[in-house]
Amino acid sequence: MIGMRPPKDFFRPLAVGAPEPLREIPVRPSRMIHFFPPSVDKMVAKVPDIIPTVDVLLANLEDGVPATDKDAARAGMVRVAQDNDFGETQFWTRINSLDSPWCLDDLTAAVLEAGEALDVIMVPKVEGPEDIHYVDRLLAQLEAKAGLDTPLQVHAILETARGVANVEEICGASPRMQGLSLGPADLAANRRMKTTRVGGGHPGYLVRSDPDADNPEAARATFQQDLWHYTIARMVDACVTHGILPFYGPFGDIKDTQACEDQFRNAYLLGCVGAWSLHPVQIGIAKTVFSPDPADVAHAKRVVDAMGDGTGAIMLDGKMEDDASVKQCRVVLELARELSA
Ligand code: GLV
Ligand code: MG
Repeated sequence: MIGMRPPKDFFRPLAVGAPEPLREIPVRPSRMIHFFPPSVDKMVAKVPDIIPTVDVLLANLEDGVPATDKDAARAGMVRVAQDNDFGETQFWTRINSLDSPWCLDDLTAAVLEAGEALDVIMVPKVEGPEDIHYVDRLLAQLEAKAGLDTPLQVHAILETARGVANVEEICGASPRMQGLSLGPADLAANRRMKTTRVGGGHPGYLVRSDPDADNPEAARATFQQDLWHYTIARMVDACVTHGILPFYGPFGDIKDTQACEDQFRNAYLLGCVGAWSLHPVQIGIAKTVFSPDPADVAHAKRVVDAMGDGTGAIMLDGKMEDDASVKQCRVVLELARELSA
């Protein structure tokens, strides 16, 4: 299940002996949420070419859009919604935060003028379930007024310490909840971390190997650590508990494609289904990273085939495989199948 709210039983263990998960559900890949500024005409003009290249296109109304351009951004989002055929691509918008003077206008325009095209409303700086309840009630009123048949889904950004502390309650606050993204830039500021970047690591955050007892003067190896490991892992656990989808957020150093790929891969391996792309070069990175490696898919298939009914234990290439490793392999196979559908 990618790109939409999984059924409640999705993350539960498979029944003993079930060779494959038996679920017929629509597949909507969500490997990248591609941001564009709808206040900029040049970017709006590129939208028809971008739509077929991305899983999710997001009209950003919040940070990154100057206060003087908020009305233009909202109007651009509505224009994009009304003028384009999104095909299989999802269309989302990020509204301004609930304590801003723009949020109510954003939500009203999104539902009344763009509601037919929109799939998900991304809500920034969510701090607790009360924020989701507020959005939920407003959406219900506006959807009734607009006569929308399908309820809009809600995606929250985790970007304050209080939001992280309340992550489980946020995930479970409404059946509209589709997923969460980590917002490393705002979260770093709110936590008073001493970084000045939009996502990614820091050369000062490292571990150093012990001195060599035989050669104390020898250079000691250093290894940079992932600043976001704890928060991503916490977010993934909360999302899985509530059957919604976890995403890594932005990586601001557009030129450092290697570090972007590394950050995305850490998130993928920890359970995230996608990340934000802020520039076309990051679309391809996300597509590669959040699609299972063909070698992993081939290996997973071998394990599943060798394990028969999926119970017991076998040795394959000198490694022990059992019920639990077969379940991991099925996760990889299921993702590969959904992305190729
Ligand atoms: C995203 O909004 C962030 O603050 O990282
Ligand atoms: Mg932010």
